[in-house]
Amino acid sequence: MTTKRHQKDMKFCCSFCGRDQSLVGSLVAGPSVYICHDCIKQCSGLLTEELSESIAPLIAELQKPKELHTYLDKYITGQNQAKKVLAVAVYNHYKRLLYKNLNEETNINKSNILMIGPTGSGKTLLAQSLAKKLDVPFTIVDATTLTEAGYVGEDIESILQKLLTSCDYEVEKAEHGIIYIDEIDKLSSRADTHHSGRDVSGEGVQQALLKMIEGSVVNVPVKGGNKHGTHQEIIKINTENILFICGGAFAGLEKVIEKRGENSGLGFTASIKQINSGHKFAAKLKGLETQDLIDFGLIPEFVGRLSVTAILDELDAHDLIEVMTQPQNALLKQYQYMFSLEDCELSFTPEALETIANLAIKKRTGARGLRTIIENILLETMYDLPSMEDVYKIVIDKDVVLGVEPPHQYHYQQKLVQGLD
Ligand SMILES: Nc1ncnc2c1ncn2[C@@H]1O[C@H](COP(=O)(O)OP(=O)(O)O)[C@@H](O)[C@H]1O
Ligand SMILES: [Mg+2]
Repeated sequence: MTTKRHQKDMKFCCSFCGRDQSLVGSLVAGPSVYICHDCIKQCSGLLTEELSESIAPLIAELQKPKELHTYLDKYITGQNQAKKVLAVAVYNHYKRLLYKNLNEETNINKSNILMIGPTGSGKTLLAQSLAKKLDVPFTIVDATTLTEAGYVGEDIESILQKLLTSCDYEVEKAEHGIIYIDEIDKLSSRADTHHSGRDVSGEGVQQALLKMIEGSVVNVPVKGGNKHGTHQEIIKINTENILFICGGAFAGLEKVIEKRGENSGLGFTASIKQINSGHKFAAKLKGLETQDLIDFGLIPEFVGRLSVTAILDELDAHDLIEVMTQPQNALLKQYQYMFSLEDCELSFTPEALETIANLAIKKRTGARGLRTIIENILLETMYDLPSMEDVYKIVIDKDVVLGVEPPHQYHYQQKLVQGLD
């Protein structure tokens, strides 16, 4: 194709609007056809409009599993297996949508995801990071706040209300979003209810969630219409293409697996018991089967909808040190930045980091507990520092972490007297 602007001796006109070259500026030429800029713009507008009705932005940048994994590595320490499982599942999910759009007959079933991992191992962070990378509407709901319709608490529809809010009520966008349902294990019909046998409400919520996760059209009441927000409007949301990720700690699941081993009489109890003593979380769940989740208290239909399972490991001391220091917005980087705003350097010795990690492990809060521990260590210093002119460096060592000594302060005055640099 060539631009025919400068060929003055010949006359050309746009094959679409018929206007002469002198009226439209430049023309783009194909084999015996010409098109002017205005017509190009119009055509491009038409195409974009048509595509945006589908999922053009997502498809245009269908993120390959490896790219997703690399992205997740920037923010999340360890959890390689879970990252892989999630990257593939998410890729397949959006590829499925592409196929559905291109070929009505190909029907790949939706695979929602179940994430199992101890508290503070990165479940929420993984789901959040994925949604951010994909740039799709995302919302997190806590399963324990949900109730069956008609009971006190939040209806299932509230999940979709939240999703809609996250994307400014753009229904089509919401219909390709991701919903993370946290604490799904708390809906177990058997957890902590040994006295009554069954917790009917948990099971009821599972039932209510079933249809939505599977894919159905849900009537979502939203406040809108007049400016007082009193007028209720109903928005229909099709959940068929929404990816649901359910997460939970599933404490005690390893015992369920162990028990199945005992009952099956297949002689693998011994090996499971061996695994259970001392090994990490993911290893303990290695033999996980659908039946174990059902025995744990999820209803079979619900388990059936969550066809991909990602298991996260608890973070060990080494991982926790990495969490504190490595990710782009690592905790230490955040505090160091805050101190730098006071013209003060903040440093932690390697032993201090190790001690902090071990404290977090003892508390069984995973990476979640790290911030609280560091906050406590630095509280007094953060209180005093803004009123102190003279401090240029704070050092935290093991004794400081253990509370034996206060944070070590370095003063300019000292530096001058001792001739330090
Ligand atoms: N694997 C990890 N890598 C980096 N940070 C993590 C990791 N796991 C947890 N964190 C940190 O701990 C906090 C809580 O993690 P979260 O994802 O909410 O845990 P979970 O949902 O598994 O209980 C996160 O905000 C993050 O700062
Ligand atoms: Mg969480």
